[in-house]
Formats: sequence, structure tokens, C-alpha cells
Amino acid sequence: MSNTTPSSRLSGFHKLSPEERLQQTADFAQLDADTQAHLRNMGNIDPQLADRLIENVIGTMNIPLGIATSMKVDGQDHIIPMATEESSVVAAVSNAARQCYDHQGFITSMSGTHMIAQIQLVQSPNPHDSRLRILERKEEIRQLCNECDPILVKMGGGFHDLQVRVLQTEGGPMVITHLIVDTKDAMGANAVNTMAETLAPHLEQWTGGKVYLRILSNLADQRLARARAVWPCAAIGGAAVRDGIIAAYQFAAADPYRAATHNKGIMNGISAVVLATGNDTRAVEAGAHAYAARHGHYGSLTQWEITSEGDLAGSIEIPMAVGLVGGATKLHPTARACLQILHVQTAERLARIIAAVGLAQNFSALKALATTGIQKGHMSLHAQNIAMMAGALGEEIATVADRLVALGKVRVDIALEELKKLRS
Ligand code: MEV
Repeated sequence: MSNTTPSSRLSGFHKLSPEERLQQTADFAQLDADTQAHLRNMGNIDPQLADRLIENVIGTMNIPLGIATSMKVDGQDHIIPMATEESSVVAAVSNAARQCYDHQGFITSMSGTHMIAQIQLVQSPNPHDSRLRILERKEEIRQLCNECDPILVKMGGGFHDLQVRVLQTEGGPMVITHLIVDTKDAMGANAVNTMAETLAPHLEQWTGGKVYLRILSNLADQRLARARAVWPCAAIGGAAVRDGIIAAYQFAAADPYRAATHNKGIMNGISAVVLATGNDTRAVEAGAHAYAARHGHYGSLTQWEITSEGDLAGSIEIPMAVGLVGGATKLHPTARACLQILHVQTAERLARIIAAVGLAQNFSALKALATTGIQKGHMSLHAQNIAMMAGALGEEIATVADRLVALGKVRVDIALEELKKLRS
């Protein structure tokens, strides 16, 4: 680092307005006027709202919002808003949905809308005795939890169940309490965290132990969304394609290196809808990957098999902690618009549709991988990006991109050459 590097100790930065923070950022990073003007454009989100959603705001980051078509979920047609920066994701969902549309589309279900909050109790003199002492107070715990959120209780939610384990750890036994709470249309993080924090001093008093952590678990395995669909063998290009998809799944099921990529593809679809609806992408992703490792090895979130008619059946089961109320879901105008587009009235319906999107995404990825490969589909959009990177503008973009694809060389150096030729 040179001596001239300015200090990152921007004291009082959080107290400034977004414009003032942008000025300081521009000074620190020596941003030119064009870059500053770009950051000043807050797009379709009110700067004041952006400034309230997170800390130290200087701008917003726009991500394309696309619509996947042809989705039929439990007999109802839906179009799906998806926010993603990755090409081919929206097309993949639409294509998969189209190929099973006339064969019922997707059938979905849900295990419930229960979230888990964990309370970690250490230094209990006799952990097994403590465990029973906590379990004995289930009704008192129910009351304490429900008093934290009367509105949730009025909506039919609230405390549902209690689980207590003695967990052997490097630091000795810990008594881990799970509060299982029906959070209905809320994602529920705030509700269950408040309950866990409220209960903590009582657990200490009942057991003589000490509580440290009081926080929800993102392994939301009491909130599983499920989706299944059948793709007729003839509609997907025949038995070789079907068998290729099944072999791709078997590879993922057996090998964590492949499973990580397989599940990443599924999350391409899922996270795009989770983001578009203002939900917490990281919570859903953490839950998905933890669930994929529930058998002690990391595996596939989907299953693929042959039906007795010789068609291709796919299924997915995945924790889906999403809500319709609270946080950015209600505050962000784009999230509100996306929920309107989806036409969902409950968090459960949203979760089920998102599971179907994940399955659709996986179908298209495996089909492409098992046949022509993934690059062909990616190429034309990718070529356009490369053309833009080379400086192509307006109609030049498509012309240069077409040439790159025709040449089979989607590279910036070739794009620069082609652009030069075009302009001369
Ligand atoms: C790319 O973003 C996603 C894929 O790699 C998924 C997969 O391999 O199944 C195509």
C-alpha cells in the first residue's frame, strides 16, 4: 500500500446522506464524474427506502427481471418473475415448463410452515435432567412464545412444538432446545428469534445453565416444499435424452463435486424467484445445501426416474423459508409487483411454486448437459455480452454477436476485430 492511500476510517459515515456518502466514496476511490453519475441513478427504488433497508447506502444495484412462461402448478397457470444476472436461466425454466405443460405441469405439496429457533444452553450441571425439566414446561413455553406475537397467533400460527437434545460437543454436553413455530405467511426470522430470546432467561433459571445463542435454524426441514412432474419421453426428444438425464442425476447423487454444480443450477432458478419476491436468498440457499447433506453426504436435491409408461419423472423436496409479509417483501415496490405477477395469496403457495421452478431449472440443465452441452444455449447471449465488452453499441451488438457465433470464436479480441471491420 502506498502512503497516499486514504484512510478507510470514515468516521460518521453512517450518519451522512447517500449523496454525501457517495462523495466520500468517490474521493476515496477516485471515481470519475460518469461513474458518480451512474451510481447516483437509483433506478426504480426510492433512495429513502434504500437508505432504510441497509446501512451506509450510496446507490442501488439493478439486476434484470425476466418472466418465465408456460408454468402450470397444481392445474393453475402462472408466469414467474425471476431476478438474475445469469443468461439462460429464465429460458431454461420456460422451456422445461413448456415440455410438461400438456402433461399436467407440476404437482406440489408442502410439509408445513414451521420454523425452528435454537437455544444453546451450556454449563448445565446435569444436562439430561435439564432436558427433562425444559420438556416438562412445554405449556408454559407455549404461553411465553405466543405472548411474543399475538398477531401471529390470531392468524392461526404461533408455538407448535418443543424438542430438546443433549448434544455432545468439543466443549462438553450442551442442551439444545428447538422451538418449533408456525410462522404462516411470514418467513418468520423475527418472530422465532424474539421467542428464543424471551425464553432464554427462563431456561437458565429452570436448569442452572447458561444460554449463549438464541437464533433460528436455516435448516428449515419442517418447511419442505415439494414438486413433481412427468415429461413425456416423446416430448423431450426420446429415450436417449431421458436416459441421459437420469444418468446425470445418478452422477450427482453419487458425487459431491457434481452435486454442488447440479444443485447450483437448481438454485439458479430458485434464488431468482426468492430475490424477485424480496425474500432472503441466503436463508433459502443455506437451507437447501444443508438439506442436501442430511444423509451424511452431500447429494442431489432432485430425483429423476422412469415411469411405467417409459416417461421421465422428476421430483424435488427442499426447505423453503419464504414469506409474503415483513422485510423487503412488503417494502420493496418491485417485490410487491412480482408477488402480484405471481398471483399468490399465501407463503405456502409461493414456496410450492418456487420448488417447481427449481425442478424445471434442473430438467433443462440436465437435458442440455446430457445432449448438446451447455455452451450452445449460452452462446448467443454470451456473444452479445462479449460484443458489448468490445464496445459495440445499438444494432452493432447483434451483428457482432452473430459473427462471433458463426465463427465459433466468442472472444473479446475477435469481437474487437469484427467491430473494427463493421465500422470501417
Ligand atoms: C450453470 O449456472 C448451472 C449448471 O452448471 C447446472 C448444472 O450443471 O446442472 C448448468
